[in-house]
Amino acid sequence: MSGSRTSLLADRFSPFGTTIFTEMTQLAMAHGAVNLAQGFPDFDGPEFIKHAAARAIGVGSHGQNQYARMFGVPALNAAIAQGFASRTGLNVHPDSEVTVTSGCTEAICAAIMGIVNPGDEVILFEPYYDSYRASIAMAGGVARCVTLHAPSCADQVPPRCTPLGGEGQFWFDPHELAQAFSERTRAILVNTPHNPTGKVFTREELKLIGELCIRHDVLAITDEVYEHLTFDPDLPHVHLATLPGMRERTLTLSSLGKTFSLTGWKIGWAIGTPELSRCVRAAHQFMTFATATPLQWGAAEACVLGEPAREAIATLVADLSRGRAFLSGVLTACGFRVHAPAGAYFIMADWTNVRSGGKRLGDRFSDDIAFCRWLTQEVGVAAIPPSVFYEHPHHGRSMARFAFCKRMETLEKAADRLKKSFI
Ligand SMILES: Cc1ncc(COP(=O)(O)O)c(C=O)c1O
Repeated sequence: MSGSRTSLLADRFSPFGTTIFTEMTQLAMAHGAVNLAQGFPDFDGPEFIKHAAARAIGVGSHGQNQYARMFGVPALNAAIAQGFASRTGLNVHPDSEVTVTSGCTEAICAAIMGIVNPGDEVILFEPYYDSYRASIAMAGGVARCVTLHAPSCADQVPPRCTPLGGEGQFWFDPHELAQAFSERTRAILVNTPHNPTGKVFTREELKLIGELCIRHDVLAITDEVYEHLTFDPDLPHVHLATLPGMRERTLTLSSLGKTFSLTGWKIGWAIGTPELSRCVRAAHQFMTFATATPLQWGAAEACVLGEPAREAIATLVADLSRGRAFLSGVLTACGFRVHAPAGAYFIMADWTNVRSGGKRLGDRFSDDIAFCRWLTQEVGVAAIPPSVFYEHPHHGRSMARFAFCKRMETLEKAADRLKKSFI
């Protein structure tokens, strides 16, 4: 192409570049590193769900292989509504209040595209899952970030800040949150359990968020993809939509991928009142229109949350708890300061006081990006530098994010390499 353009890329994407996941994965492959950067399991999902999808494909016979209904195959919508009701006590209509999307990523984008006008502000907690900023940019919206601070900064809690969060968890300043709301605010996006910090928002924190939404007439979008993956009985997952006055103004988003270790299926959904669902569908019908039909049939077996699904979740949570304890122990022994996650499957750990060759790594590397590149290339373990998930990157510079949703043998291999370099 000729002309005066310097780049073929539309301006709206110029701030985003290649995602850090792609970069770290390429680096991990080039150096044969154990990949604890990628946030997905290296094991497979439950057989009963795979069988259901295989039956729906109908190899050797007629299967469910044509376009699905735009907002989801009836069996899946019904299963999602039933599973949601069993967890929340909220009855949602499967056809008018549940929309099946291509993963939660599409649900996030469709929700934002469906409700945000150019110039509207959307409040996010930083660090954030990277698709939020890009989706807000696609809608022409403006992100307003409120910082989740590492627990080690707890002594910096300003006097006006009531600690509402869980013990030892990342925290935010309620005053900063209140200040982020204005007449331009259209929505707040809340991810709980939270990637990358592992924070599970407490009922008190969510109540505050709900009160602010009601006071300022703001909508809430919740990303609950890790809703089943929590490790601390004192910090259970709370659905924002269940709090007073919030059912009418919340779009609850989730997906199959994390709960059932089937991330490649990309089955997600949005739950909200018929009016909110119409907003999501307005975008969804032109983004993907519908999602892979046989995989929706497979997902329907899981999402109803019957006995086999509940067993599969319990086994996964038990395995993840072991991985979490093992990796936390190894990182701590190596000199990392581990921020124990209450949910999701990542550990954020401060690397600055780790020593290698007699030198403190905080004196050797200027930031988390340099540290994670070195860790991948020289130690042979890949992690994600979390500063890329912050509007104010200095908050993330001293940390690295390690995924523990891996087979024990993968974690052991990573442990051997870490111990060899740091103990
Ligand atoms: C917080 C969060 N939201 C959404 C997603 C994507 O979900 P899905 O694979 O269903 O699109 C991820 C995946 O890592 C995530 O961590």
